[in-house]
Amino acid sequence: MKIVPFAVEEWMNRYETDAVYNIAETCVDSLTLGELVDDVPRFFAALAARKLTYGDIEGSPAFRRRVAALYDSEPRVVATQGAIGANFLVFFTLIEPGDRVIAVHPTYQQLYEVPRALGATVHPLRLRPENGYLPDVDELRERARRGVKLIVLNNPNNPTGALMPEAMLLEIVAIADEAGAYVLCDEVYRDLLQKGVPAAPSIIDLYDRGISTGSMSKVFSLAGLRLGWVAAAEPIVAACLQHRDYTTISCGMLDDALAVRALERYDAIMRRNLAIVRGNLAVLDEWVQEQPHVDYVKPKAGTTALLRYDLPLPSAQLCEGLMRETGTLLTPGSCFEVEGTVRIGYANAAETLRQGLGQFGAHLARLG
Ligand SMILES: Cc1ncc(COP(=O)(O)O)c(C=O)c1O
Repeated sequence: MKIVPFAVEEWMNRYETDAVYNIAETCVDSLTLGELVDDVPRFFAALAARKLTYGDIEGSPAFRRRVAALYDSEPRVVATQGAIGANFLVFFTLIEPGDRVIAVHPTYQQLYEVPRALGATVHPLRLRPENGYLPDVDELRERARRGVKLIVLNNPNNPTGALMPEAMLLEIVAIADEAGAYVLCDEVYRDLLQKGVPAAPSIIDLYDRGISTGSMSKVFSLAGLRLGWVAAAEPIVAACLQHRDYTTISCGMLDDALAVRALERYDAIMRRNLAIVRGNLAVLDEWVQEQPHVDYVKPKAGTTALLRYDLPLPSAQLCEGLMRETGTLLTPGSCFEVEGTVRIGYANAAETLRQGLGQFGAHLARLG
């Protein structure tokens, strides 16, 4: 199977560990093991007697029950290796050569490149700044009329931070229903909402052929667990399980136990993380207002924003120079096929954000 390089992952792999000010990171400031488990002896004593078998093949009942409780429709849940494993599993299960797929663009490259590599024809549904990076539903309707097997969304969106509201999701569901299509919505940033922004429902609470993918990485600040899920109606998850037997067997039982702990503390983690994304966006917003060369569509949700700059310089060159000279890491818009932009991840520690923005502003001033 031929597949093009995953630009954003290659970029992060190259620079992430050397960055002094990492403002490319998309997780909300990661938790330590000690912050998650404040009763280490008791917690690990309970685990110490457990034989390290494959464990619960689909994920522990506690994990699956608690993830299902994040939705209204009591979906069936299966554990995967991160949301990246969840998305892959959905494509591996549903896509056959010749299928037609419509996917929002820009987004996480996996969401359109994997279906393409599996032989589908993928039509991009452009998210444009003049529409607040929301899709044009009429364009989708027009495309879907010509046939579509799967519509792929990412809500809230990485990289733009746009959030499709309920009314728009309902319109998309009506289009999908008429076309007989599935809708996969990558909801890995779900509920990381800015103040005053109404929550958007999960696709699976609106549509019986909807599929939600999520994970412990962003919302729970626990990317190191490498644990995610597919949540959907029974027949869809059953088909996923049949395919998953060939790739996964099970996810690690230690990761599962730690994820259950985090799910039990959903409210506290969410309080912490909403304070971070809201406080940090205020810092970013103030910085953008002061910059002569930068503007943006202010994000409504998630952890990222696309910053547009007006200097005659390719985004990769801009970001490489910034990293080389200041140790500040951003992601070039070229990784999302949107030149003239850089993606910032603003949910890291506030001090890292402040320092990184200071360095970026000074760098732009030197170039401008
Ligand atoms: C939209 C989106 N989906 C999936 C992933 C993968 O996340 P995970 O760590 O859960 O595999 C990312 C990571 O950046 C992402 O931004």
